[in-house]
Amino acid sequence: MPRLRLAVLVSGRGSNLESLLAASQAGRMDADVALVVSNKADVPAVAIARAAGIETRIVPSEDVERAEHERRMIVAIDAVHPDLVALAGYMRILGPAFIARYQGRLVNIHPSLLPAFPGLDAQGQAHARGVRVAGCTTHLVTTDVDAGPILAQAALAVDPAWSVDELRERILALEHELYPMSIHMLATGEARLDGARVVITRPAAIFEGAR
Ligand code: GRF
Repeated sequence: MPRLRLAVLVSGRGSNLESLLAASQAGRMDADVALVVSNKADVPAVAIARAAGIETRIVPSEDVERAEHERRMIVAIDAVHPDLVALAGYMRILGPAFIARYQGRLVNIHPSLLPAFPGLDAQGQAHARGVRVAGCTTHLVTTDVDAGPILAQAALAVDPAWSVDELRERILALEHELYPMSIHMLATGEARLDGARVVITRPAAIFEGAR
């Protein structure tokens, strides 16, 4: 089966990008990062992409209308003909035209067990509510923010003594396993969109990378 070509969209720290690059290189994910697109030039994610020798495009979002910015993003992305567009800490809400263009091929990772705690600072929301179980979710992106079909989830038991920063760190460690695993499942066909849900043909795969 051919490896998937990924375009990864970033805005900041880039730790999920790093985990995708590592998994691709180590053979844990049948996909290659063909392009990294950032709306910010001076962020660690861009440095990570460049250090790995990945084609990197900066498409600034400041002082540009959203529709125009997204048109420019689409030109950059389509130039590499990706199979999948992966959001990895991309900090802008995407408009309907962009989402429609990559329908079924646009994936995101969110640091909560969706549908709980969508939106900003999911870990802070979870900590404030005193959750006993937390985790992260990969999903296909639709126009409803953080509400698209769920691909995979990883969960952990929360120690009530943890600070919110500790909770963030623990969830992030799970994210770094879950995202490459989710993309691998799409690459192998073990996960595929069936109407409004993602169907998994090898359910145990969900737990293998997420202990
Ligand atoms: C992650 O927590 C991810 O779930 C969320 O944004 C954060 C990005 O972190 N969507 P990084 O840039 O990948 O380190």
